[in-house]
Amino acid sequence: MLTPPTMQPSNVVRNHKCQLTTLTFVTLRCVVLPEPNFPARPDEFVGRRGQIEIFCHALRQGLQAGRTASFAILGDWGIGKSSLLLKFASLCSQPSFAILPVFISASSDVRDYLRLTENMLDKFTDALLAVPTMQARLRAELRNWRFKSVDLGGVSLERESPRMFLSSGTSLLRHKLKEAWNHFLPHAQLRGAIFFLDDLQNISSISRADLALTIRDQFQCLGIENMNYSICFSAKPDYFAEAKGLADPAVRFYTKFYLEPFTLEETLDYARSVFEFVDISAKLAAWLQDKTVGHPYFLAFICKYLATTASLQPDKLEFIWPAIFDQLGREKFRSDVSQLSAREFEFIHKFANLSENELASEHYTSKFRREYFTRLVEKSLLIRTGRGRYKLYHDLFREFLRQTE
Ligand SMILES: Nc1ncnc2c1ncn2[C@@H]1O[C@H](COP(=O)(O)OP(=O)(O)OP(=O)(O)O)[C@@H](O)[C@H]1O
Ligand SMILES: [Mg+2]
Repeated sequence: MLTPPTMQPSNVVRNHKCQLTTLTFVTLRCVVLPEPNFPARPDEFVGRRGQIEIFCHALRQGLQAGRTASFAILGDWGIGKSSLLLKFASLCSQPSFAILPVFISASSDVRDYLRLTENMLDKFTDALLAVPTMQARLRAELRNWRFKSVDLGGVSLERESPRMFLSSGTSLLRHKLKEAWNHFLPHAQLRGAIFFLDDLQNISSISRADLALTIRDQFQCLGIENMNYSICFSAKPDYFAEAKGLADPAVRFYTKFYLEPFTLEETLDYARSVFEFVDISAKLAAWLQDKTVGHPYFLAFICKYLATTASLQPDKLEFIWPAIFDQLGREKFRSDVSQLSAREFEFIHKFANLSENELASEHYTSKFRREYFTRLVEKSLLIRTGRGRYKLYHDLFREFLRQTE
């Protein structure tokens, strides 16, 4: 039996401990309020133990060798890329590593590599200024240093050719990072810096293959010169797809993590991190896993609903499912389909109503239709599961489309 949400007092309690009593109706007390539209805070992060272990191992090795590996975090929409990036950033700033994290959201208005490097340097200076161990005198110096121009040996920074533009960005970054390595980092007792670039696929004015290769060349050179700078970027899973051959060295350069949905164990950890009644979490986690297939965004969405509006018996979760699904439709799926043209909608609707989950593009013969696959992948509504094979990004979205006329 459910108690109607409106009759409940607010049951969201952050950092609140309470006693488990034998209640017929269980109010799920929430210690972490899930926010599906924001990455997880590092102290509220769950799971991904394998990736964290590999990353920390690389940090330790980096401190010994004087240069740290670079990483690519690849995954579909909402799978937890930004959350992992932020977790890594917080890990590397721990005193045992003393590596400066520099977090940058790659934006579609970055027109070329020079603009990207300027952006990186800007955030780098901000991060240095925020280091607590930085003395006031150095802080003042840093503020001037930020605006100090760089003589790149007569190279004009005006747009001449894309190649020139790439090399001037490279020179600028190298020059400034070398200065910082010799001066600011030692004074702040920092042993290196990692640039965390979120959503690299947003930079579309430079070909992905060129960008991955240029970044690799840049950070490889810094490593060769014994400066402990590295890069960790996130992107869609097909980021390297077009780079084969041309940028193969770039592909090899990065330690790659392809993020998958949560395992049942991770979903259980997630439920435990959100709700206080540990003993019902196993049942709750199994239900959540069944509904979401471990997709972190949907987990966060459903848990937020449960945390803010529901009071329920754990074995009666199915009763409130229609209300949750309805809210998902309003807040997520409708905005997904609102970005589609009438023809794209017709296409995806047909797709959802097929008996099988996955479809090979060769079933669609005309070129016109083939284009839809690419466009819908770009809009994160289809996932490419293999060469020429696609599926809808989540079964819940498929269900929504099936119920929509
Ligand atoms: N390891 C995690 N621990 C706790 N919550 C997580 C974790 N990973 C993801 N989430 C939750 O899942 C949701 C989506 O995560 P996030 O924004 O990191 O995904 P993303 O892959 O960066 O998404 P996008 O493709 O939109 O950039 C957020 O609500 C976040 O809090
Ligand atoms: Mg993200």
